[in-house]
Amino acid sequence: MNKSSTENQDKLDLVHRPRRLRRSPAIRDMVRETQLTVKDLIYPLFVMEGEGQKEAIKSMPGCYRYSLDKLLAEVAEVWKLGIGAIALFPVVPEEKKDSTGTESYNPDGLVQRTIKAIKKEVPGILVITDVALDPFSSDGHDGIVSEDGIILNDATVEVLVKQSLSQAEAGADIIAPSDMMDGRVGAIRKALDAHGYTDVGILAYSAKYASSYYGPFRDALDSAPKFGDKKTYQMDPANAREALTEIALDAAEGADMVMVKPALAYLDVIYRVREATQLPVAAYNVSGEYSLIKAAGQLGWIDEKKVMLETLTSIKRAGADVILTYFAKEVALILQP
Ligand code: PBG
Repeated sequence: MNKSSTENQDKLDLVHRPRRLRRSPAIRDMVRETQLTVKDLIYPLFVMEGEGQKEAIKSMPGCYRYSLDKLLAEVAEVWKLGIGAIALFPVVPEEKKDSTGTESYNPDGLVQRTIKAIKKEVPGILVITDVALDPFSSDGHDGIVSEDGIILNDATVEVLVKQSLSQAEAGADIIAPSDMMDGRVGAIRKALDAHGYTDVGILAYSAKYASSYYGPFRDALDSAPKFGDKKTYQMDPANAREALTEIALDAAEGADMVMVKPALAYLDVIYRVREATQLPVAAYNVSGEYSLIKAAGQLGWIDEKKVMLETLTSIKRAGADVILTYFAKEVALILQP
């Protein structure tokens, strides 16, 4: 077995030979530093109105918009596969959108009905809900837009608080503000506590960048901004120190977990955030990152499954405790015990 020593091929007088720890699967398994598990993953899911619908999302092969009945079956299936949490995103019909996103806090809205149904059918799974106005806004922005096209911070926070309360009321386990308004984590925490929802957690999208990797997601929800971009609230991709400021603020305001988003072009930010906080760190392997791998896989240019696992491992190695990824189900199928 030990070819090199039996045949005495080694001529160099080396003290250190790192290859000793790579000689066999058993030894590689033993010294592996990072282990990707199904329990690390949050599965984002898209829900839409209707019945019996499962609509493919063209720019995200393998992802679908589900009507509630079909979504429940999917949630039950992934729970069985060991996935512990889902993140919910609604496809809101155009006629329900308005400039202040009032549908976002409708107690009978799609998100609220979906949370209740999941909590009834699959009570164990963690339901994480997105807090932001973009799926509900006729402007396609995460906040309220003023007459002169400015995204209003404090007025938006008031609506986000209502949205959060109505999600908590419906039974959400974790509220995830993805809007990047200043002060929203503190305002949401205060309101949740004042209404008795002290157990409802906050996963803050703390360092969320104004990224072009969100394109396929906006296709999925038909939520692209109707004008301009998100650069006055989402972060400049060139900034890393600023991420630490955002993390510190959200932690001080009461976030239970913080997030870096996207993940792959921001592995250095994940690493820095990991060093800077004791809170659990989540990373969002976003739609564009997913679609790149899917597209190259479909073209036969890469081994899609291997690239998927290598990619998710890199996010964990960089310091993420938790990964939101559209690959969650595929990973769960591969990692079945
Ligand atoms: C909206 C939101 C976005 C994503 C999650 N929540 C899009 C955006 O900010 O424009 C993107 C997720 C993805 O690309 O997978 N607040």
